[in-house]
Amino acid sequence: MSQKMQTNKPLLMPKPDCQICPRLAAFRAENRAKYPDKFNAPVPSFGPESAELLIVGLAPGLKGANFTGRPFTGDFAGELLYSSLLKYGLAQGEFKAHPDDGLELINCRITNAVRCLPPENKPTGDEINQCQPFLKSQFDHMPNLKIVMALGLIAHNAVLKTSGEKLSAYKFTHGGQHELGNGLTLIDSYHCSKYNTSTRRLTEPMFHDVFEIIKSNL
Ligand code: URA
Repeated sequence: MSQKMQTNKPLLMPKPDCQICPRLAAFRAENRAKYPDKFNAPVPSFGPESAELLIVGLAPGLKGANFTGRPFTGDFAGELLYSSLLKYGLAQGEFKAHPDDGLELINCRITNAVRCLPPENKPTGDEINQCQPFLKSQFDHMPNLKIVMALGLIAHNAVLKTSGEKLSAYKFTHGGQHELGNGLTLIDSYHCSKYNTSTRRLTEPMFHDVFEIIKSNL
């Protein structure tokens, strides 16, 4: 079935106090007590549902998306991601690392494989699987979805599972492009995390190369 098919079902969103993953719910409660004025809830996707491009990250960072409620906003990783989106015309406005900065995404939406903050930024396999219905629903609610950009191996695998594909059939490589059975093109990039950029596993030109591939496919 093509992912371009619309669904009548409402977009599936984790509840603000989602209890599906006990470890993540306990960590959220801890962080709510520590930082009561911050977002501390499953982070919703950002950008228009009409977009052709969906970017899938890993999970919110503690003082980034988990504090602000917008993916990659306040996270170190967001600096490179949003500057690249602005450079490639996939965003307009100014990125000020705050959800009220007025930044708008153009033909692009951003979500995470896991919606809640995981301890040490490491969700377990079970937690990734439990969050899969939310990613699937996201796909079904993007009638023009054409390209899914996976930031890192966990996002790559989550996209494959959500699309009903065998993981062994699609190897993750930076800049790798995969045509999926559901009509979507999966394009991989190393995650734009602080660790990857400081170790130079991912440089800005390498990240931009992937956006060149994406732009040529849109
Ligand atoms: N912030 C997010 O929202 N997702 C990531 O994968 C990293 C930081």
